[in-house]
Amino acid sequence: MKSHISIQNLNAFYSDHQALRDITIEIPEKQITAIIGPSGCGKSTFLKCFNRLIDLTDGAKASGKIIVDGIDVLNGSVDITDVRRRMGLLPQKPNPLPMSIYDNIAYGPRLHGIKDKKKLDQIVEKYLKIAGLWDEVKDRLKSPASKLSIGQQQRLCLARGLAVEPEIILCDEPTSALDPVSSQHIEQQLLKLKKYYTIVIVTHNIHQAMRLADYVIHLYLGELVEHGPANEVFENPKEERTRAYINGTFHIDLKIDKELDLKGNVCPYNFVYSKQALHNLEKGKTLKVIVDDPTAVTEVPRGMEADGHEVLSVKQINKTDWEIVVRKKE
Ligand SMILES: Nc1ncnc2c1ncn2[C@@H]1O[C@H](COP(=O)(O)OP(=O)(O)OP(=O)(O)O)[C@@H](O)[C@H]1O
Ligand SMILES: [Mg+2]
Repeated sequence: MKSHISIQNLNAFYSDHQALRDITIEIPEKQITAIIGPSGCGKSTFLKCFNRLIDLTDGAKASGKIIVDGIDVLNGSVDITDVRRRMGLLPQKPNPLPMSIYDNIAYGPRLHGIKDKKKLDQIVEKYLKIAGLWDEVKDRLKSPASKLSIGQQQRLCLARGLAVEPEIILCDEPTSALDPVSSQHIEQQLLKLKKYYTIVIVTHNIHQAMRLADYVIHLYLGELVEHGPANEVFENPKEERTRAYINGTFHIDLKIDKELDLKGNVCPYNFVYSKQALHNLEKGKTLKVIVDDPTAVTEVPRGMEADGHEVLSVKQINKTDWEIVVRKKE
């Protein structure tokens, strides 16, 4: 796999809320990479760092490196317009400009100095064809883009983005506002386009990810949980959290008041330390204990229950570690 975007130690904050935590990953060239994970895990933030849209949010900042063709796009001195031209963004809801179909596509190229009518005609036709919209609109290029159906508008936005000749297409849930047939249209175009472009798509829809992705990134609470070739991640995830998300058994995590990492401790030390931590906690608050000792997984919850505390969950979170959540008795 040849890398196109190299992300190194990416952290992102909205004021003091950390939305991305130390993410390091390579995005493969001319493939479709799907970013999956529950709502609020940082998928959109991740994309917004790529084209520096994050700069537009007050109080937001990103640190680390995102290297595309040898240039770190997070570096303060890069030309943001150039960065955004290289990376087209297809948003959730289509946002055609308030002008004709033709002018929507010609807008970017005109901005970049192309004035020749013949040349513009060619560009408009070329990209409407690539986006799979040409046959439906070729006889009404001068009519307002707003008259198109939502699905057609989304393909128009795809064409508009492609007309400035990006290398990378970023899509943030590009089909979530579309009906199934229009969604299928967009998916078909993306599958064709990956021959020429590197595509990164955020999707809530695990089936869409399975249909489209060559590579998968699973984020959870701002952290990179797992990444790898799509067939490996979908068929044989390494992480229990990924398996749960794919199977749809992912549950909202409990509110945790204190966390205790007891890896490397052998039972009964695990038990003693957990007991001490619970002792220092207010009544009704929750403690999460991480252990990597199989005996502790059964003994710690048993002991806690014997003391009258409520064991809320015990689950394996990866090959070697378990997570026990206990609520201190009232
Ligand atoms: N403008 C903002 N100001 C403050 N916090 C924000 C802002 N945008 C996002 N966040 C927070 O950052 C975290 C990540 O948000 P983000 O939108 O990236 O998640 P997401 O995975 O795209 O979620 P969804 O699937 O719901 O679109 C969330 O906790 C969110 O509340
Ligand atoms: Mg989002």
